[in-house]
Amino acid sequence: MTQAQAKAQVPLREARSVPSIVTELPGPRARAHVEFDHAWTSPSLPRAYPLVPVRGEGLTVEDIDGNLFLDFAAGIAVNSTGHAHPAVVRAIEEQAGELIHFSASDFYLPIYAEVCRRLARTAPIAGGRARTYLGNSGTEVVEASIKLARFATGRPYVVAFLGAFHGRTYGSVSLTASKAKYHAGFGPLLPGVFHAPYGRVDDLRWFDEVLFERLVPADEVAAIVVEPVQGEGGYIVPEAGFLRGLRQLSDRHGILLVADEIQSGAGRTGRMWAVEHWGVEPDILLTAKGIASGMPLGGMVARADLLESWTAGAHGSTYGGNPVACAAALATIDLLEGGLVENARVRGAQALDALRPLISRHPRLVRDVRGIGLMLGVEFDTPEHAEEVQWAAFQRGLLVLECGKRAVRLSPPLTVSDDEMTTALRLFAAAGAEVAGPAEPDVREEAEAAGAITGVEAAG
Ligand SMILES: Cc1ncc(COP(=O)(O)O)c(C=O)c1O
Repeated sequence: MTQAQAKAQVPLREARSVPSIVTELPGPRARAHVEFDHAWTSPSLPRAYPLVPVRGEGLTVEDIDGNLFLDFAAGIAVNSTGHAHPAVVRAIEEQAGELIHFSASDFYLPIYAEVCRRLARTAPIAGGRARTYLGNSGTEVVEASIKLARFATGRPYVVAFLGAFHGRTYGSVSLTASKAKYHAGFGPLLPGVFHAPYGRVDDLRWFDEVLFERLVPADEVAAIVVEPVQGEGGYIVPEAGFLRGLRQLSDRHGILLVADEIQSGAGRTGRMWAVEHWGVEPDILLTAKGIASGMPLGGMVARADLLESWTAGAHGSTYGGNPVACAAALATIDLLEGGLVENARVRGAQALDALRPLISRHPRLVRDVRGIGLMLGVEFDTPEHAEEVQWAAFQRGLLVLECGKRAVRLSPPLTVSDDEMTTALRLFAAAGAEVAGPAEPDVREEAEAAGAITGVEAAG
């Protein structure tokens, strides 16, 4: 039976409860595939652990050996509507049958303009009137924003933040400052980039006291590029007042504020855009990842007057805003606005309540629990322990991903149900208890195994 036939017969989640681990992990076929992969693919791909996915449905992922996992990684916070959401699949299929590609750089694609309109309508851009440029990925729209900011202001310098991740092409990797390995061997990077401390209101003094006082005049700075919630850097939520302070500082000096919402946007934090939590309106807002449920699409929504400074040919892309990716984006935005953003808020609050007690339960191991909506981070005492928890979760059938120096992130699809969240929290707590070991026994794990405690209660 082919995989397609198997799928037609038995929907994944109805087949077995999830997770369901039926082989050792990695299983025999996964091990063989990893060996094949290592012969042919670029060793630069970091690979978190040996998962070999072949099929997904909702939060369920089946691997090559037939194991079923609960997906709290979502393709690095991308599968916002879960795997193979029927409305997204239908939109992709219909669009693929109509028109797979036509370059919007050269011709007028209706669906491209519609995505631009929908994004410009939802994004809280300073001054109100916005237009949109579409690319294929996060890093592409970061590049576009650097070009636009320099072009529109005529200023050379750009400020990003320590801990930031903005991508891996030359401009964006020059803004990235989460780990030195992203720069190692690639210098010199884009000139004219400075990195500020992130997150505390007090950190904003760095601009006046260091940058403008000692390094460059404020009126030569084109843009401040900021993640409203740092992603790869460790799921760090800034202090209330930090983003608003940046907005004021930008206004004072005519600097453009660029919100990189590539990870924090598309509803993940429980608002369509994370900046909405603090009432901040950037001049440019960047989206990608979850906005098209996994189809490659990036969007740069900008103040119309900024984009209108560009003339024909200033920027473009062969594939950017490809019709199939656009169809997925429209279906995704409908689903987000139709309830998934609210679900992210509710499930995120449920998760934080359940995760926070891990700090007192394993005080040596668990150093912090933080997050907003479904951007949830648990910080451990060492990078090794974070990795061990990630592995222990994998062994239990729960997919999570490390971030920052020593944190693990939980970033499930926004479709996550109460039951799925409860199961994931229980498995995550058990993974933590295993790594904490006998020195910090989770006395409740045994009770849970005996059936005395279940679900969120077990995690909390
Ligand atoms: C905040 C942020 N910006 C930019 C990027 C780069 O996006 P992409 O991998 O699509 O190029 C990422 C990817 O993780 C990200 O999290």
